[in-house]
Amino acid sequence: MIARAAFGPDFVFGVATSAYQVEGGHDVDGRGPSIWDTFVRERGRIKDGSSGEVACDFYRRYAADLDLVRELNIDHIRWSVSWSRLIPDGTGPSNPAGADYYDKLTDACLHRGITPWVTLYHWDLPDALQRRGGWANRDVLGWFSDYAARVFDVLGDRVRHWMVLNEPMSFVGHGYLTGRHAPGRRSPVAFLRAACHATLCQAEVGRLLRSASSANVVGTTISAAWFAPWTEGEADRRATERFDAFYNRLFLEPTLGLGFPTRILPALRWLERCLRPGDVERLPFSFDFIGLQAYFRERVGNCRLVPFLRARIVPVRRRGLPPEKVTEMGWEVHPEALYLLLRKLAGYTGIRKIIVTENGAAFPDRVESGRVRDRLRQRYLEEHLAQVLRARAEGVPVEGYFVWTLLDNFEWAEGYRPRFGLVWTDQGTQCRTIKDSGFWYRDFLGG
Ligand code: FCB
Repeated sequence: MIARAAFGPDFVFGVATSAYQVEGGHDVDGRGPSIWDTFVRERGRIKDGSSGEVACDFYRRYAADLDLVRELNIDHIRWSVSWSRLIPDGTGPSNPAGADYYDKLTDACLHRGITPWVTLYHWDLPDALQRRGGWANRDVLGWFSDYAARVFDVLGDRVRHWMVLNEPMSFVGHGYLTGRHAPGRRSPVAFLRAACHATLCQAEVGRLLRSASSANVVGTTISAAWFAPWTEGEADRRATERFDAFYNRLFLEPTLGLGFPTRILPALRWLERCLRPGDVERLPFSFDFIGLQAYFRERVGNCRLVPFLRARIVPVRRRGLPPEKVTEMGWEVHPEALYLLLRKLAGYTGIRKIIVTENGAAFPDRVESGRVRDRLRQRYLEEHLAQVLRARAEGVPVEGYFVWTLLDNFEWAEGYRPRFGLVWTDQGTQCRTIKDSGFWYRDFLGG
């Protein structure tokens, strides 16, 4: 049993959400379409054929949901702004109703004593900008800076905690290389261009927020996994290094002034070709915190057949794991991975502070007599928090932890099947049921 007090009085505990996954209200009050609105309508893109058009209807129900957050003793909530709700075409006129919504959402948090942590970009680019190339078009630097400045105009007098990007590797990798996420492209060239622009945007908008107010606490988030070699052989060890460089380091190291990890992956030199004079100097930015989003461990094997990485992830079914060690996403439960990643980040001199901005798990929950007995999720959270504490005790500057997520919601290409929430959401009735893990978090935070 771990106690909240062990983390110290200033450690931040929260819950994380994102606009497209919970808001719904996709076409109301002047909101423009985002790339996800388009993507979900393409056949075969979403496993259960669903969409975020209604999602958790958070757009209308946010007040009651924030009451729930309060009831669970959660003092910090992370949410994102839907760019196309604020600026329907991505550039051009703002939508007053969109501004009003985020204005009210901010006030509703503050009135309840809940601190909002705002992500500027959680994957939902305005569709109008995708038609102009999206992240692969260098103009995104101007579009995104302008959008960020407008969000700051609306919320900057009250919001202090900011995250520029949510997991660039996910939206650039799956959006432009594997095609599994919106906009569904599979183009190495577009991937490289988008990666270069996202890295530049990350730093540029970081600077913009820093100069907008000295009170701003400016972060950005990265996805990370702990990669372990499948065998002890040299080939698998090197393959693991390549995976790590690609997945964990690509978007982080340029920010820290270390450039792209081209020593391990020489092919990334192509990224440098996307840079223009002056860009190298613009890539670094000293964020107040790095948001670590980590869920699992992967095992990596050497594989000559895979172009570029020459490595592959060993499928979870081959790893001989007991069922309770594999989540609904097919991710291995391996709490120590979080500790190892925190240690790894702490090894970079440029990182001042780390916040775990997402961690959580989807398990096959059921409501029985009005109750969700999700022991596995509770155990997952407890074991991961214990690893955060372990890292902290060793001097790692980790100062916050956000559970992913509040409500069962639209899990991107996976649809509604994986349930990550502390609160069960019935997609038909929108009825909420606090799961046992939610009550556990409430008691942990209240204790
Ligand atoms: C992260 C995303 C978040 C959610 C969780 C499960 O990669 O940032 O939106 O989908 O995974």
